[in-house]
Amino acid sequence: MKLGHLEPRGGLEKGRFFGYFYRVFLQRIQLRNFRNFEDETVDFPERGAALIGDNGQGKTNLLEAIYYLEIFRSFRGARDEQLIRFGTDHFRVEGSLVEAGGAEVTVAAAYRREGRRKKVTLNGDEPQRFGEAIGRIGAIVFTASDVEIVAGGPAARRRFLDIILSLVEPDYLAVLQRYRRILTQRNESLREGASPSELAAWNHGLVDAGCSIIEARARWVAEQRAGFARYYEKISGGQQASIDYAPSIPKPTGDRAAPIDRHGWIEAFHGRLQRLAERERRRGVTLAGPHRDELKFRVGNSSDAVGLRSFGSAGQQRTAAVALRMVEAETLRAALGGEPIIMLDDVFAELDPPRSERVVELLAAEEWGQVLVTSPKPSEFALMGDSLAEYRIAAGTLRRV
Ligand SMILES: Nc1ncnc2c1ncn2[C@@H]1O[C@H](COP(=O)(O)OP(=O)(O)OP(=O)(O)O)[C@@H](O)[C@H]1O
Ligand SMILES: [Mg+2]
Repeated sequence: MKLGHLEPRGGLEKGRFFGYFYRVFLQRIQLRNFRNFEDETVDFPERGAALIGDNGQGKTNLLEAIYYLEIFRSFRGARDEQLIRFGTDHFRVEGSLVEAGGAEVTVAAAYRREGRRKKVTLNGDEPQRFGEAIGRIGAIVFTASDVEIVAGGPAARRRFLDIILSLVEPDYLAVLQRYRRILTQRNESLREGASPSELAAWNHGLVDAGCSIIEARARWVAEQRAGFARYYEKISGGQQASIDYAPSIPKPTGDRAAPIDRHGWIEAFHGRLQRLAERERRRGVTLAGPHRDELKFRVGNSSDAVGLRSFGSAGQQRTAAVALRMVEAETLRAALGGEPIIMLDDVFAELDPPRSERVVELLAAEEWGQVLVTSPKPSEFALMGDSLAEYRIAAGTLRRV
C-alpha cells in the first residue's frame, strides 16, 4: 500500500474554527532556542515531509515544537523551562499556515525563563483569550508513548480527554480551569478542617463546573465509541475493543442507554459529596468529581472482554492507542471542517508489519491533509510511498535532501 497516489486535499472548502477561517497547511516553521534547535527555519510542502535522523538528533523535538503551537505546552509533558535550549534564557516557535485562498496566518509562542513569561500571538497580536489561539493549527501527533494513555495511570486518560475537548469545545478549557481552581480551594478548606457550611460554599461551583466537564466527556465518548471500535477492528485485522467513560460520580439513572441530562448529573454529584462528607473530612481531600474519572478500554468480544490496561498485550495496547488517535483526528476534522496536520513520530517501529500496513491503509483511506513523519531509518518510508519530501535532521539542524 502506498500513499503516493494521494492528492493533497483541495483545501478550498475548508471550514471555520471558532469563527476563524481555517488553514490549509503548515508552510514554515521557525525555531529559536527550542530544545536542541538554535535558529532554524524550514519550509514544508503542502503534502508533507519525511524527517530522517539518528536517535537523539531532534526529530521528536521538532514535532514537539510544531504541536506546541496547537496547545502551547509540550506533548511530552515537559515543563516550558525544559524546552529552552541549554545555556539560553528563552525559546520562540513560529509557524506560518497557508489558508484557503493563499492567505498566511502566523501562530507564534515564546517563553522566557525570567518571570516565566509566555507570549502567544496570532498574526503578531496577542489574542484576547488564550482559547482563541489554542487548536489553531489543527494537528495530531501519533507517538510511541501514546501507549501510556491506554496502559498508564488514569491521569493520562483524563489529560487526553481534556486536551481534545479543549481543542474542539469552545468553553471547555475555561470550565476546566475554573473547576481546578475551586477544587484546590476546596481541598485547602478540607485540610484546614473547615466546617460543613464552609465546605458547602465550594460545592455549588465544584458541581456546576464539574458537571459541564462530565457532560462534555460523556458526550464525546458516546459519540466516538463506534469509531474507536471500527478503527481498532481495522488495524488489528478483526479484533474487538471498546472504550467507555467511567465517571467517578455514579451515573444517575438505571437505564444505561438513556442520555443523562445535566440536572441528573448535578443531583448525583451533590448526593455523592454528601455521602463522602465524613471520609473527605478525615482524608482532607475531595473524593468525587471529574478529577477522578476514568476512561475504560476493553479488548475481546463483549462476553469475554477484558481490561486492556491490565490484560492487553503490548501490541493490543499500542493498537488501541493508534485507534484513539484516529478518533482524535476524526474529532478535529469535524470541528475544523478540514484536515488536521498529521504527525507520526516513529510509530511504525512499534507495530508489527501487517498492523503498520493497515495503519497506512487507514490513513490513506481518510482524505487527509499534510503529513509529517519521522524515523531513524529511511527504509520505513517505503511504506509511505515516495510522495513525501525528505529532510535530514542532525544535531538540531534540518535540511531538505
Ligand atoms: N532544552 C534542551 N536544550 C538542548 N538540547 C536538548 C534540550 N532538551 C533536549 N535536548 C536534546 O535533544 C536531543 C533529543 O532530541 P529528540 O528527542 O528530538 O531525539 P529524536 O531525534 O527524536 O531521537 P529518537 O530517535 O531517539 O527518538 C537529546 O540529544 C537532548 O540532549
Ligand atoms: Mg524521538
